[in-house]
Amino acid sequence: MKNLSTILATLVLVFAFMNSASAEDWKVSATAKKKLNPYELSKKNISTGKKVYQTNCKSCHGDPTKANMLPLVPAPADLGSQNFLVQSDGEIYHKVKVGKGAMPTFEKTLNDESKWMVIAYLRSFDKNKKKAVVTKAVVNPEVSDVKIELDIDSEHKKLKAHLTGLKKDGKRAGLEGIELSFLIKRAFGQLDISGEEAYTDAKGELLIQFPTDLPGDREGQVDLTIKITDEDEYGVIEEKRVLSIAVPTNPKNPLDERAMWGTRANAPIWIIASYLLGVIGIWSVIFLVLFQVFQLSKMRTKS
Ligand code: HEC
Repeated sequence: MKNLSTILATLVLVFAFMNSASAEDWKVSATAKKKLNPYELSKKNISTGKKVYQTNCKSCHGDPTKANMLPLVPAPADLGSQNFLVQSDGEIYHKVKVGKGAMPTFEKTLNDESKWMVIAYLRSFDKNKKKAVVTKAVVNPEVSDVKIELDIDSEHKKLKAHLTGLKKDGKRAGLEGIELSFLIKRAFGQLDISGEEAYTDAKGELLIQFPTDLPGDREGQVDLTIKITDEDEYGVIEEKRVLSIAVPTNPKNPLDERAMWGTRANAPIWIIASYLLGVIGIWSVIFLVLFQVFQLSKMRTKS
């Protein structure tokens, strides 16, 4: 009983201590606060930042402005809320760098550029800064039935995507300045071959060089998916194709060679030899014993 109360008292103390530690302020020095984002608030940086956010932050912080973060205590902030965005770039940068409690430190796991890109992405939700977003002055007409068509130049391994939408007057128009992703299915996940500047031009076209040394299957085939990277504007728009433009490969079947995991005929010689030796050895001993027993009984009949 006395033991139990000691344990309880210790636990209470430990919890009190932990609480006081987490209640401590997230101190950011004045110089750290003044740091500015060296990257401009361009459409491209924001979209890069969005990717970083979705892989590293979304699991806890949810979608910016949607307030659907994990119910942790203390709660991860909604990083798209105006309350949060009153903080300076430097302040956010510092917090992401050092972390606190359940919030991991990203000092080593994210490079500087990625950290600033995330901040650019978060800034794009800032009502006061929204106007500052550098966008190419493209205004696409209002369209429906958006689709991606693909031209393939197998000889030069070039792919041309053509992004169009149906305008109100029934004509198709190219959509400009939209980022597309070209994804090749690999054994584990997808390989993005679209490169850095994969935006459609004024005609809604985008030309991509297919990697000349990328291996495909026996016939040089690969599965390609082309899609609009950002699904916010037009929803999920994608086009899937099987292309025969990769380098054909003939993967060796590991069961065809002599190896430990080979089938009976393909087992390594030494395993077959030692097995046979073992079998022969055991049978010889058995025969030897039988032979001796037979000799014994013969001796008895003689005597
Ligand atoms: C494992 C969950 C988790 C992940 C992943 C995570 N955070 Fe956090 N984050 C938290 C928690 C919990 C807090 C609140 C910490 C506190 O107040 O003690 C927080 C707080 C913050 C704050 C301070 C909020 C404020 O009100 O000042 C910022 C900024 C932040 N996170 C940015 C990020 C960014 C950017 C990423 C991705 C690169 C990220 N976090 C990833 C859990 C997480």
